[in-house]
Amino acid sequence: MKGLILSGGKGTRLYPLTYTRAKQLIPVANKPVLVRVIEAIRDAGVEEIGVVVGQTAPEIREALGDGSRWQVKLTYIPQDSPDGLAHAVKIARPFLGDAPFVMFLGDNVIQGGISNLIRDFAGSDWNSQIVLKEVPNPAAYGVAVLRPDGSIERLIEKPPVPPSNLALVGIYMFDHHIFDAVHAIKPSARGELEITDAIQWLIEHGYRVYPHVHQGWWIDTGKATDMLDANSHVLEEITPTIAPDASIDNSQVDARVTLQSGAKVINSVIRGPTIIGVNTVIENSYVGPFTSIYSGVRVQNCEIERCIILENSEIIDIDLLLRDSIIGRDASLRRDSARPRGLKLNLGDHSKIWI
Ligand code: G1P
Repeated sequence: MKGLILSGGKGTRLYPLTYTRAKQLIPVANKPVLVRVIEAIRDAGVEEIGVVVGQTAPEIREALGDGSRWQVKLTYIPQDSPDGLAHAVKIARPFLGDAPFVMFLGDNVIQGGISNLIRDFAGSDWNSQIVLKEVPNPAAYGVAVLRPDGSIERLIEKPPVPPSNLALVGIYMFDHHIFDAVHAIKPSARGELEITDAIQWLIEHGYRVYPHVHQGWWIDTGKATDMLDANSHVLEEITPTIAPDASIDNSQVDARVTLQSGAKVINSVIRGPTIIGVNTVIENSYVGPFTSIYSGVRVQNCEIERCIILENSEIIDIDLLLRDSIIGRDASLRRDSARPRGLKLNLGDHSKIWI
């Protein structure tokens, strides 16, 4: 079994963060989503992984290297234009050969990993296994209609009027018949070769496609609110640890808090689940549940809840609760006492501020 991770795309719904960073490298609970995907595939026993990359290829290569840090072997597969998930499968053929493989979209986070799915597929005679999840907004995804016996009747990509609430999760297992399908289908209305259409082709041509309905949580981290949701879910599941060289001084740090190496908490209250990153300093502040603060951040005289704060930023002397926010790298949020009082902003394109 091999792995195939799709890590192209521009991440337009996450602007401005994704002007300067590949969306799959944005951390959730202080670990890039893409690293979580690699670990999930590795934990299922798959070590040879192809990574399909687009225009953010240099950054992704730099972050992941040859994969040895995670005990896997990575092969990069450049996709020159974003022509769809089925196109990515097509160009990955030289890497995949005739081996069965699991394809995992690099921005998906799923509860419980994929070991069971891979075991079921490896021990079956199915040509493909797909993962489905009941969602409130199926029009945003590929959608499946099942027959009363649980088999798949049909799959449709982002139908304006969804015929069911079962979305296709971005995790798929295939044998080599998928290559016949990706060569047979035509581009969709959005001009892409859709993997949903390729699987529909398999069904129509009598191949066995087995649907697994996932019961835990699943998040496609396409938008800022999805990142915050994924962050909350993952924080609830990590085992809290306090690094030996982290320090707590005159503070309350509850049991569900992780402090990474060199983190310092001074005169503050930290409520979990929360993670405080490497060499980050929290002083005279409250950091509430579901917050991930990455490395090298300084928080002083502030209250923060349910946020993701990226590396080397500073948040200082803010007297309103900062909540449900994502702050990028090297950002500075400070109180300014100069008269006349007011807002002074220096924002990148597509920034969003709620006051
Ligand atoms: C893709 C697939 C869609 C699937 C989704 C899951 O959508 O085309 O069928 O439900 O991933 O994350 P995209 O992210 O390309 O809009």
